[in-house]
Amino acid sequence: MIKIKDLTKNFKDKVAVEGLSLNIRPGVVTGFLGPNGAGKSTTMKMILDLIKPTQGEVTIDGKYYKDLKNTTSKIGALIDGNAVNPNLTARQHLELIATAGGIAIEQVENMLYKTGLSKVKSNPIGEFSLGMRQRLGIAAALLGEPETVILDEPFNGLDVDGIHWLRQLAKDLARQGKAVLISSHLMSEVQAVAERIIVLAKGKLIADMTIEEMSKKSLSAYIKVKSENNELLSSLLKKKGAFIQNANDENLHIRKMTLKQIGIMAKESHIALFELKEMQPSLEELFVELTEGKVEYISTKDIRERKDGRK
Ligand SMILES: Nc1ncnc2c1ncn2[C@@H]1O[C@H](COP(=O)(O)OP(=O)(O)O)[C@@H](O)[C@H]1O
Ligand SMILES: [Mg+2]
Repeated sequence: MIKIKDLTKNFKDKVAVEGLSLNIRPGVVTGFLGPNGAGKSTTMKMILDLIKPTQGEVTIDGKYYKDLKNTTSKIGALIDGNAVNPNLTARQHLELIATAGGIAIEQVENMLYKTGLSKVKSNPIGEFSLGMRQRLGIAAALLGEPETVILDEPFNGLDVDGIHWLRQLAKDLARQGKAVLISSHLMSEVQAVAERIIVLAKGKLIADMTIEEMSKKSLSAYIKVKSENNELLSSLLKKKGAFIQNANDENLHIRKMTLKQIGIMAKESHIALFELKEMQPSLEELFVELTEGKVEYISTKDIRERKDGRK
């Protein structure tokens, strides 16, 4: 288990990651989401001890990265911008990594096969497409059969087949009990594979929940209303405790109110309704909403408390 505690990274006056605390559990694929610049790569590099945190710490099974005994069997990673020598063949590249990491050389052929690179193993990496490079990076990450696999934007450059292949691979790894952390700036890439979703925005944790909880979107469902007089209806509903968004000339997006309450309010105020509809935003919409800071911090615990009416 990877434990991240109060992790912060400042680059001069730029705060890349701020007060991040979370655990990455074994046996689960965790999607690490956030728009570009959210701090995903910086966090992953701090897990891998490639960047020193300004504050806070990361432990892997209770140990600091630098104190790990058998690093290659503990943690393997694909990090963007990993240096590769374009003149080496795929096989040579992996053989170097295996040798440096004390990994059995047979693993190279295994991983070339597993990542679909057997046919091109003797070609120089310089001739590889982005997708093939990603596969090679994934092969390198898995070479030591690590307990934790960290993949930074692994879907970049993969074609449709590659995307399906990687999803299946990630699920298989989780089924074997490994912790799999996959970053992406696109909800659609991880929602089909991740059991748990962590969302970062501007370096801060804004959501940490299972995909199931996210799908229920209980906090994000809203009622769309079109009426004869949105302005008046909106002010009346607000007085009753409604939370209203996107109040443009056309539509009101209303939360914390039921369909019935809105209908009755409209009737009592003699405002004709043209539309009154419950909307369930897609995961993609919820992600955009979360990262735009429209929705407050949500954690599994918060959702449970709200359901129990404790908050
Ligand atoms: N080496 C660096 N020096 C200065 N700023 C950096 C450095 N690395 C990242 N940043 C900044 O930190 C923020 C987070 O970056 P990053 O972790 O790469 O985000 P993500 O991977 O989510 O796109 C960005 O604003 C980025 O410009
Ligand atoms: Mg990144």
